[in-house]
Amino acid sequence: MTTQRYIPALAYRSLTALYDPIVRLTTRERRVKAALLKQAQLRAGQRVLDLACGTGTLTLSAKQMQPQATILGVDGDPNILRKARNKCEKAGVNIHFDEALAQRLPYADASFDLVISSLFFHHLDRDNKLAALHEISRVLKPGGILHIADWGKAANVFMRTLFYGVQMLDGFTNTSDNVAGRLVEFLVASGFVQVRETTRFATVLGTLSLYQGQTPKVLDSGLESIL
Ligand SMILES: C[S@@+](CC[C@H](N)C(=O)[O-])C[C@H]1O[C@@H](n2cnc3c(N)ncnc32)[C@H](O)[C@@H]1O
Repeated sequence: MTTQRYIPALAYRSLTALYDPIVRLTTRERRVKAALLKQAQLRAGQRVLDLACGTGTLTLSAKQMQPQATILGVDGDPNILRKARNKCEKAGVNIHFDEALAQRLPYADASFDLVISSLFFHHLDRDNKLAALHEISRVLKPGGILHIADWGKAANVFMRTLFYGVQMLDGFTNTSDNVAGRLVEFLVASGFVQVRETTRFATVLGTLSLYQGQTPKVLDSGLESIL
């Protein structure tokens, strides 16, 4: 894992207060996050991690959609986690949030059924994307599923042009693999199976894509005993 400058929610800590209204206006947030949760099909009893949860919008929606699941949020920025905790407290929903880097998660191996993550991977350069994917695959159970919403391959020249706005704010090194559509390749390289891009959304900042990938299932005991 290489050392990389930590990129907060809107690139500068001073902009964190504006995060929720800006994301609501520019990313078709409700629609995209609802689609991600629909894709995730949360079930009662599951343990679900919202990785780089930011202000906790997706975390809260996940818990409201499936109150019988255990939902945790994790983010590397203590300031944004304060906002997430306040948001959940105001909504009367009890969710545990941890402060940690995605590349070094404070959870045991195979401790989650699902990891969900929105608008995060473009904050990491290639090495750190791969390090985070490695950690996700470690904390997911065999057969666990990762669901991502993030900037994806630009659907056309217009979408590519709009995405320069994101790149000027968040940086070019960490966003270039996103807009080149390489997240699928990185999931495969990190050992995920059944990897695919499931949907694309046109937004005023470029193309947002949903992805999913699964950790390999363990061989059933019958087969293991034969091999
Ligand atoms: C654009 S925000 C997305 C927040 C939220 N998931 C959402 O959809 O609104 C990106 C988040 O990633 C967090 N972040 C950036 N680098 C991180 C890292 N290495 N580990 C954990 N969180 C990180 C930031 O603090 C920020 O909250």
